[in-house]
Amino acid sequence: MCGIVGFTGTIDAREFLLNGLMRLEYRGYDSAGIALTHGGGLQVLRVKDKVAQLRKAVAASDIEGSCGIGHTRWATHGVPSEVNAHPHCDCSGTIAVVHNGIIENHEQLRETLQAQGHRFVSQTDTEVVAHLVEENYAALCGQHPKLQARLAGACATGQAEQQAALAAPAHAAETTLFVEAVRATVAQLSGSFALGILHADHPGTIVVSRNDSPMVIGSCEQGAVVASDIPALIEYTREVVYLDDRDLAVLHADGSIEYFDPAGVLFTPTTYHVDWSIEDAERGGYPDFMLKEIHEQPRVIRDSIAQRFDAASGKLLFNELPLSAEQLAAVDRVYIVACGTSYHAGLVGKELIEAWSRIPVQVEVASEFRYRNPIVTSDTLVLAITQSGETADTLEAVKQARTAGAHVVALTNVVGSRVTREAQTTLYIKARPEIAVAATKSFLAQVALLTLLGLYLAQERALLSAAQVGEIYAEMQQLPAQIEQILAHAAVIEDAAAQCAQADTALFIGRGVGATTCYEGALKLKEISYLHAEAFAAGEIKHGPIALIDPAGSQDPLLQTPVVAVALQSATYDKMLANIEEVLARGARVVALATEGDTRIAKLTDLVLYIPPVRECLSPITASVPLQLFARAIAIARGCDVDQPRNLAKSVTVE
Ligand code: G6P
Repeated sequence: MCGIVGFTGTIDAREFLLNGLMRLEYRGYDSAGIALTHGGGLQVLRVKDKVAQLRKAVAASDIEGSCGIGHTRWATHGVPSEVNAHPHCDCSGTIAVVHNGIIENHEQLRETLQAQGHRFVSQTDTEVVAHLVEENYAALCGQHPKLQARLAGACATGQAEQQAALAAPAHAAETTLFVEAVRATVAQLSGSFALGILHADHPGTIVVSRNDSPMVIGSCEQGAVVASDIPALIEYTREVVYLDDRDLAVLHADGSIEYFDPAGVLFTPTTYHVDWSIEDAERGGYPDFMLKEIHEQPRVIRDSIAQRFDAASGKLLFNELPLSAEQLAAVDRVYIVACGTSYHAGLVGKELIEAWSRIPVQVEVASEFRYRNPIVTSDTLVLAITQSGETADTLEAVKQARTAGAHVVALTNVVGSRVTREAQTTLYIKARPEIAVAATKSFLAQVALLTLLGLYLAQERALLSAAQVGEIYAEMQQLPAQIEQILAHAAVIEDAAAQCAQADTALFIGRGVGATTCYEGALKLKEISYLHAEAFAAGEIKHGPIALIDPAGSQDPLLQTPVVAVALQSATYDKMLANIEEVLARGARVVALATEGDTRIAKLTDLVLYIPPVRECLSPITASVPLQLFARAIAIARGCDVDQPRNLAKSVTVE
């Protein structure tokens, strides 16, 4: 979704805004813009381009100031264009608004405002907010003649230049009026929104509010800062406040921040400490974030499994889970709700939880779960998996599950994020900030945590002995070194990728957890390289998908249909070889993922990626790594931007 930043303080705001937007670009990159209050006026600069272009435009302009807001957009209402880029202004050009989310009643508000004489210039839902603040502010300042004339004149003529020539800002009007105008506006809005608002008459003040869309706030030596997400702030502060729905925060240039609830009552919010570092949010010498994040995975797995096993008792620990052994024994069904890559982690979780704890697990796409009246009772355990903790579909599913009486456990990466406040229990994955739009290290961290959770449930239900749990845990401790080994053979993977990059369609096949690995592998490939990719349980391919293999390309290996086959040592290995034979017979180019020491697979194909032997249940963690590298290499060969694939955003805060 869109990224928002805001800074007010004692130094030039431009660097914070531009750097912050760069760090939030994974949220959207259709267009970008900033607004600054300066010398009693308001300056706005927008481009239909990425933040790098905005930076150039800022350097070439005279825009400046120590208080400003910025935005990088993922279009929902209105095509990507300069006129639809944020910030949006009121008629008078004195109010600027940046927004993430969707104002659901924007059409009705727009009609009313137009009838009142407001002129709209964009197709966005956001613009109504600027005009509403203008309207509410005018009403509150009704007794102030200079202000009234200024507002009336602007609405009638619509000439922004006229505003610059108008009298000095109405400093007499208290900031309170601005805050109250925003509060009245927020009360009129329905839908999801995170808003940052500037008013030329109140330079040095930013008013922010939110409903369902994230907003993180903090103060620092140089002033006060706000952003949609932590990476934009960590250079300035690690003590952050998450705004609750419809609360308001008022940021002042001296770094002080006031918080108001929807009734306008001042309150003191909870502050969270974030232990991420600035290095976590930077590329650190890698050509792209995706590669950096792939290479971080040994560390991620190490952190994920650390301190989960108590050697003295020989037991796995999940101290965050408030459920007693009796309550866990009573769990009769687990739902896993998630979207995208997190959903694929859930598919792995299902296999493991069912195998070990014998509890039936249903994995649901979050956007479907909430609309289909699922069977949820107080004995249902719901696992909501969301890297960002802000995905609207997943949050709505969580609310629905809680209403139905389930115990909801969130698995997330972001401290204090929305899901942590909606669920009863939070388990943090230890991925640290993930910037590339395509999820990699968060997937491995989710799978590692679900693996441990599956073992824990079986341990608490006395279905696995301490020795069995200890043995698997000990094997998990080998995973970081095994991933290092896979990363060291990236060149082999890149060679295989080079032979598949020209294809139109790729298929991924596997069995058991190998199939779940394939679902994620195919998603990685299609989202960053735009090569159409689909994954199937290998036994299913003969029931339809095999028709996609085009024999026409069989003369030229580069044009053959690539079939990526996860054929690791497992109970179904022989069946996988038979499935590989089937696709080879139809002219496919098979890229096989096989276990080191396998001598049979090389007789079928010359494109074999060997990975260290692991127990089948742990294989999604190792086998996903070469598939990530494979997708990235193909994307690069096809000239794609791997960190910012078209049409996508990392965090989707609308339904
Ligand atoms: C977006 C991203 C995906 C991600 C999904 C769920 O669609 O592009 O990469 O997997 O959201 O995100 P979450 O933060 O809930 O895990």
